Amino acid sequence: MSLSKVKILELPKILDERGNLSFLEEGKQIPFEIKRTYWIYDVPGGETRGGHSYKENQEIIIALSGSFDVVLNDGFDSKVVSLNRSYYGIYVPSGIWRHMENFSTNALAMIISSTYFDANDYIREFEEYKGETLKV
Ligand code: TYD
Repeated sequence: MSLSKVKILELPKILDERGNLSFLEEGKQIPFEIKRTYWIYDVPGGETRGGHSYKENQEIIIALSGSFDVVLNDGFDSKVVSLNRSYYGIYVPSGIWRHMENFSTNALAMIISSTYFDANDYIREFEEYKGETLKV
């Protein structure tokens, strides 16, 4: 899977003096059926999360609060997307190696997933991932 398939999504933003509001809807901003949502929080300074690839799972990652970097790699190229606004999401298709780092204090990462949790869907070794990528 190529990094060119990774997309930055600008989510709807309803500005209001009482406080802003953003939303997402399956089949509209989200290009897959939503099966699962999880969130990562209370990340100690300097920690990284999510260093792996998925065989099937696609996802949207949003910095609901604070900021962090999503580091993406397709086996050939890599890029870093910094998330620091709650109305941006990054769409990550299956078959991309990614991790999250550089979490700010109180960062809250929300991940919307296309599959239920399945440990067998993970590729956790980068060398194995690169081998799978080169086969395609
Ligand atoms: P994992 O995805 O391995 O986190 P990271 O890639 O950041 O190391 O998840 C950590 C643990 O949480 C692992 O034991 C699996 C469990 N987990 C679930 O039970 N359900 C989920 O939806 C997720 C994402 C993780």
